[in-house]
Amino acid sequence: ASQEFTGNLKREVEKLFDASLRITVPDGTSVETEVAASLPGKPGDYQCNNAMGLWSIIKGKGTQFRGPPAVGQAISKNLPASEMVETCSVAGPGFVNLVLSSKWMSKSIEKMLIDGIDTWAPTLPVKRAVVDFSSPNIAKEMHVGHLRSTIIGDTLARMLEYSKVEVFRRNHVGDWGTQFGMLIEYLFEKFPDTESVTETAIGDLQTFYKKSKTKFDEDPDFKEKAQKAVVRLQGGDPIYRKAWAKICEISRTEFAKVYQRLKVELEEKGESFYNPYIANVIGELDSKGLIEESEGARVIFLEGFNIPLMVVKSDGGFNYASTDLTALWYRLNEEKAEWIVYVTDVGQQQHFNMFFKVGRNCGYPVTMNQAARKAGWLPDSDKTYPRVDHVGFGLVLGDDGKRFRTRSSDVVRLVDLLDEAKTRSKTALIERGKDKEWTPEELDQTAEAVGYGAVKYADLKNNRLTNYTFNFDQMLSDKGNTAVYLLYAHARICSIIRKSGKDIDKLKKTEKLALDHPEERALGLHLLRFAETVEEACSNLLPNVLCHYLYDLSERYTSFYSIHQVIGSPEEASRLLLCEATAVVMRKCFHLLGITPVYKI
Ligand code: ARG
Repeated sequence: ASQEFTGNLKREVEKLFDASLRITVPDGTSVETEVAASLPGKPGDYQCNNAMGLWSIIKGKGTQFRGPPAVGQAISKNLPASEMVETCSVAGPGFVNLVLSSKWMSKSIEKMLIDGIDTWAPTLPVKRAVVDFSSPNIAKEMHVGHLRSTIIGDTLARMLEYSKVEVFRRNHVGDWGTQFGMLIEYLFEKFPDTESVTETAIGDLQTFYKKSKTKFDEDPDFKEKAQKAVVRLQGGDPIYRKAWAKICEISRTEFAKVYQRLKVELEEKGESFYNPYIANVIGELDSKGLIEESEGARVIFLEGFNIPLMVVKSDGGFNYASTDLTALWYRLNEEKAEWIVYVTDVGQQQHFNMFFKVGRNCGYPVTMNQAARKAGWLPDSDKTYPRVDHVGFGLVLGDDGKRFRTRSSDVVRLVDLLDEAKTRSKTALIERGKDKEWTPEELDQTAEAVGYGAVKYADLKNNRLTNYTFNFDQMLSDKGNTAVYLLYAHARICSIIRKSGKDIDKLKKTEKLALDHPEERALGLHLLRFAETVEEACSNLLPNVLCHYLYDLSERYTSFYSIHQVIGSPEEASRLLLCEATAVVMRKCFHLLGITPVYKI
């Protein structure tokens, strides 16, 4: 039978084994089909590992089989005929090894070249997701932690978007809270004519913050005024709201510089957005008997945590947790998000675990994906949807092994950090004489793509939970697992295609791709594993899985290219198509990682 490739190779193979298992042991089919990609050097491309497990289920029940290898043989024999399969055989105690048909592999890659790589996009069981990322705090420092959140969050959003999920990219900016009392009062004092205050007049907002804080701590009169200012702000006094808006605006311009450099898009719905809903949501929780009084504050006790979650402070004010609970309610009920992903440092894990649990404990009637069913805000299991995830990440360390700090650790410095990456990569390009070959624009664009790409990739390639050391020399090296190496590898492939003088779009339509040699086949197989990798990275929220894949891809390409001649060989057309497919997949990886590819080097 002809098997159309939907993109996820592993899933296609699973479908075949599913069908076989249902025939082989009709009573044993409640077992989950276990299919895994075979390790390099093993006989097959994929293997099915069900024989041993099935044997232990059926052996006492008068089965006709004589041990696991026989079960394996039957699984192999009952595999539906498919154009995908070259051979299927059994090894050892019953491992069923499947070798894919090279012809089918070639055809699938040829098809992708014509129809585009979006036809390989995974399909996730979610229509709409919120990715809550970046989320710095107004007037406070936007530090490297926020940079990490911005980079990781953007990649996750991109992977979900590629997988046809509608994504709300949310900047949950810290734009509300008691610190605004002192900031506003200080603003009034320094600039009685608030209307005309400009960003340049205030200068650096963090210094402004620090000065107002000092005054707050030292001057009792000022402190009292600041506390009254909070009340007036929260009560909606227009003059105070205006001053607040001004301060937010200035911060926003600073944040925007970072986003603009990184080409990251975000929609701001800061903490203040949820303000009008908080009282109601807390009221709901209260009416369900979840809230208790504790030392003047109102809290929720949760099983498995030794401290309660405070939702109303002793002065009656709301806090970070009440806002997050309200945002959760809003996202699930008003925005109908089926998956909410929060990207912050691991230090906040407890906060997230606690308010997620409140969501689960709360029997609030919500209409979810299916019929109106009475449910908790969230189901018990993390596996089903709607689903919430805290994507935690480790610290960024400096060369001294301590928490990475930019010199004065303020917003402008974060921008400087990115600018430095660009300057350094430009210097490296000039050292290679590129300023003489390229136009100034080409030089600048390449330096930017490489510099920013290097910062992003250095962050993304590690398992996000581990701390990582920020080191310009390492991330900008053209050797090893770096963005520079990968971007150059891609550019070299493009230049081979250019040098051939062939019209690649024409070749796609007229020529065949063959995977006759082992290196060609290994490269082809890796290309076909792209979609299953994206799906895995997406479902487990692990961008490093995709980085790993990309690095592997360039290694396989190198193995192929170092042995086989492309231009001028009898297989030229086929090999150019293989080069092009590699470049297409690499570019998609770059795109998903938020890195701009370069074509010349
Ligand atoms: N503003 C917080 C911080 O800087 C991060 C907010 C993360 N998102 C959230 N919904 N709590 O630490």
